[in-house]
Amino acid sequence: MTQSSDAPAARRRTFAIISHPDAGKTTLTEKLLLFGGAIQLAGQVRAKRDAAQTRSDWMGIERERGISVVTSVMTFEYDDRVFNLLDTPGHEDFSEDTYRTLTAVDSAVMVIDAAKGIEARTRKLFEVCRLRDIPIVTFINKMDRESRDPFDLLDEIEKTLALDTAPMTWPLSRGRSFAGTFDLARNEVRRLDADEAPIKVSGPDDPAVLDLLPQDERDAFLEEVSLAREGCNPFVLESFLEGHLTPVYFGSALRNFGVRDLIDALAAYAPPPRSQQADTRLVTAEEPRMTGFVFKIQANMDPNHRDRIAFIRVCSGKLSRGMKAKLVRTGKAISLSAPQFFFARNRSLADEAWAGDVVGIPNHGTLRIGDTLTEGEDILFRGVPSFAPELLRRIRLQDPMKAKKLREALQQMAEEGVVQTFVPADGSAAIVGVVGALQLDVLVERMQAEYGLPISFEMSRFSVCRWVSSDDKAKLAEFVEKQRSAIAYDLDGAPVFLATSAFSLKYEQERAPGIEFTEIKDYQIRQAA
Ligand code: G4P
Repeated sequence: MTQSSDAPAARRRTFAIISHPDAGKTTLTEKLLLFGGAIQLAGQVRAKRDAAQTRSDWMGIERERGISVVTSVMTFEYDDRVFNLLDTPGHEDFSEDTYRTLTAVDSAVMVIDAAKGIEARTRKLFEVCRLRDIPIVTFINKMDRESRDPFDLLDEIEKTLALDTAPMTWPLSRGRSFAGTFDLARNEVRRLDADEAPIKVSGPDDPAVLDLLPQDERDAFLEEVSLAREGCNPFVLESFLEGHLTPVYFGSALRNFGVRDLIDALAAYAPPPRSQQADTRLVTAEEPRMTGFVFKIQANMDPNHRDRIAFIRVCSGKLSRGMKAKLVRTGKAISLSAPQFFFARNRSLADEAWAGDVVGIPNHGTLRIGDTLTEGEDILFRGVPSFAPELLRRIRLQDPMKAKKLREALQQMAEEGVVQTFVPADGSAAIVGVVGALQLDVLVERMQAEYGLPISFEMSRFSVCRWVSSDDKAKLAEFVEKQRSAIAYDLDGAPVFLATSAFSLKYEQERAPGIEFTEIKDYQIRQAA
C-alpha cells in the first residue's frame, strides 16, 4: 500500500532533547512549544522543572500529592507536521528512565552549552542514541554568553562523540555582542533583534551582515565563514539519517533565537516514524495493523486512583480507543478502553493514535516494560534494553516473615523498571541494582506506602555486574556453575555475573573466552534466557 506524504504516520516527528543539566533543555522546550502554538501550556514546563529540580523537592511532591512529575509527552503542530516531544526526567538520577525513553524516539536534539561543550551526561545519552543510530540535530545554546570558539566546539563533538558535524549557521559574534547567525548554505542572515525573519544577502561580506558585527571582528568572521564552508562537512541528509553526521545550529534559547532553525530542521530532515525490528520481521510505520511496545511505566500519577500507566510507543497502524490488543508475552487480549495523551501534567482521552505517537494505558500491573501489543500477530519488538546498574545493594527486610511478599513486591517494581532485581544463584538475599541513588529512595517509599514493607539496604560486596551469554550453551552453563557464588538471575531469568570491582571483572573476563559480558541487555539475551 502506498501512502501519500500526508498520511498520519508520515507527518509525525517523535523526538527527545538530550543534554547535560543546565544546558537549557527546559528553556528550549518552552520555546519550541511557543513556536508550535502550544503556548498556553508552556509555563507548565518550567513549573515542572522547578518541582523536579531537587531530590528533596521531588520526594516531597511524591509524598504530598502522590503524583509523579517525571513524565510527559508534548505534542504540537507546525508546518503540517505533528511533533511529539518526549520529555525526559530532569534529575540525573533518573537516567534509566531517560535511556528507556530514548528507545521510543526517532530523532533527538542535542543541546550543548556554548561555554562548556560536551559534558558527561550529554555523552552518555548520546551513546544510548548511537545504539539505535538515532539522527541527532545539534543546538549550541547560550551564544549570548561568553562562549568557546565555534570550531573548537565542532571539533570536540567530532572527537569525543565520533560524530561528523555540519555547521548550518555561523554565529555573528558571541557573548554580549552576539547579533544573530549567518546561514552558510542559503546566504541568509537572521538577526537577534528581528524575530528571526531571515534576510537574503549577497554573501558574508554583505553590509547587511558586516554591519551587525563589531568593527574589529569583521575580518575574523569572514575568515571563519570561509573556513567553515571549505573545511567543514557539508550537510548530507543520508549521513544524518544514518546517525553519522549532525547538523549544527547556534542560538540562544533564552533569547528565543535559533529555535525556528531547529524546528525547521526537524520538519525538513528528521525522519518520520522508523521501522522497528521485531523478532521475526521488520515492522514499518505504514502497516495498517496496530503494533506498539511499552517503554515506560509510571505509577501513582493520579492521587485519586492507584493506577499505573504504561506508556506505549505506537509502531504501526492506528490505535483506537476501545480496541482489543494482544499482549504477546501472555497471549491474552487486553482492552484499550481508556488510552490517554499526556501533555505536561494534563491528560486527555485518546480516540486515535498513529505510528510515532505515545499513549498511556492505565492498567493494574498487567503491562510491563518491553511488552509488545499487536492486533493478534505474535511478534516481539526488540524494544527496550536494560543497562547494567551502577549501584548494587542487598535488601534488608525488617520483618523476615514477609519474605514472600517482598519477592512479589520486588518483582512488580522490577517490571515497572523502578529498580532491577537480581536473585543470587546461591540463595542469598536479593540484590537490587539502580543507575541513580534516587531510585533507591523511591523504592523504599513505595515499598512502605504500597506494600507496607519497611526495607533498608546493605552494601553488597559486589559493585559491578554484567550480563553473561554465549553462543555455546554448554560453555555458559559451565561458567555459571563454576562462578556460582558470583552469579545472579535477573527478572527474565538471564544470568548476571557480579564482580567486586572493575578490576576483578576484567580478570574473570580474560579467563573466560567464549563468554560475552555485556553492559546492555538487549533482545538477544532476553530471548536466550
Ligand atoms: P536545563 O533544563 O537543561 O537544566 O536548563 P534550563 O533551561 O533550566 O536552563 C538553565 C539555566 O540557563 C537557566 O538559568 C536558564 O535561564 C539559562 N539559559 C538557558 N538558555 C539560555 C541562553 O540561551 N542564554 C542564557 N544566557 N541563559 C540561558 P537559571 O538562572 O538557572 O534559571 P532561571 O532563574 O533563569 O529560571
